[in-house]
Amino acid sequence: MKSLVRQGIVLTGTGSAVPDTCLDNHQLNQMVVTSDDWITTRTGIRRRHLLPPQNSLTAMATEAAQKAIAMAGIAPQDLDLIILATSTPDDLFGNASQIQARLGATQAVAFDLTAACSGFVFGLVTAAQFMRAGAYQNVLLIGADVLSRWVDWSDRRTCVLFGDGAGAVVLQASEYDCLLGFQLHTDGTQNQYLKLGFQEQEKLLIDSVRVGQGTYQPIAMNGQEVYRFAVQKVPEVIEKALYRAGLDIEQVDWLLMHQANQRILNAVAERLNLPEEKIISNVANYGNTSAASIPLALDEAVRQGQIKPHDIVALAGFGAGLSWGAAIFEWGSLNS
Ligand code: ACO
Repeated sequence: MKSLVRQGIVLTGTGSAVPDTCLDNHQLNQMVVTSDDWITTRTGIRRRHLLPPQNSLTAMATEAAQKAIAMAGIAPQDLDLIILATSTPDDLFGNASQIQARLGATQAVAFDLTAACSGFVFGLVTAAQFMRAGAYQNVLLIGADVLSRWVDWSDRRTCVLFGDGAGAVVLQASEYDCLLGFQLHTDGTQNQYLKLGFQEQEKLLIDSVRVGQGTYQPIAMNGQEVYRFAVQKVPEVIEKALYRAGLDIEQVDWLLMHQANQRILNAVAERLNLPEEKIISNVANYGNTSAASIPLALDEAVRQGQIKPHDIVALAGFGAGLSWGAAIFEWGSLNS
């Protein structure tokens, strides 16, 4: 007997969590030579939330996930798959399994995915492949990062930009399909512009056998190159994803990009001829939270009633790799 394979994907829940601790631009000025005026003019960022010691990415991501699961109206045991997009796990072997355990999502397979600030969009497309193949029905996708662990807090060129947070969505299989189109890209030849690299020290084990041990070094970024890359590549990838969706830019209700910098958001919207009112932005309050930034902004926009059922949202992520991607989706519920 043939079974019904529901190959559409609907987003049915969102959730987010950020640490209580906040650092505003004036406080940053006590640490490095900068000013609120410089930071807000160049980036739009006013404050960022930072995870205190003894707190974990796992706990923050789990809180975001619980809210998304509650909104979706399912039980953790209904989940088939959990994907955690992160570059800053508590455990390099991966954190998705710990989140699975904390949620009690006993039926779910869980794994981490690393694609820096593109992680949420790459994760969304990855989840969609499992669902379109008919393998999984209920998927939890989390974007979470604690970049404060890897920022050089004495480097004013980078420390003003980043913050910590987590966001999550629940995707459910449906006969109705809300993922309308996507496009992903990687260009490893530009990898040097944004790095969180491992630096090794040689350790001699026995004669002629050495290994490299060490730790990761703080975020190193060529800001101007990353800015140039984002402003050129992101409008292109959104246009390609829209083409695949069979939609025109005029049909987009909301532009929800990785929240790196307000100037990048505005420049991309301008290149796409999208009015500024269509930009979803919370970068002022959180800074750049990497893989968390899109689901965090999505959750706020949905809960505040900004994004409404049947609105067309253009998502775009970009960042280290270099990597970039866009996904066009219609916000809605299983009953749409
Ligand atoms: N406060 C005060 N002055 C500063 C600061 C600061 N926080 N940071 C840099 N400056 C100074 C520089 O030292 C330089 O001074 P100088 O001319 O005396 O040498 C001057 O400001 C200009 O520096 P630039 O680096 O040229 O500044 P720019 O205009 O390029 O702005 C910025 C820097 C905001 C980082 C910009 O390049 C940018 O937005 N780039 C994109 C970065 C980004 O979004 N990265 C993350 C995306 S990917 C991801 O999410 C991981």
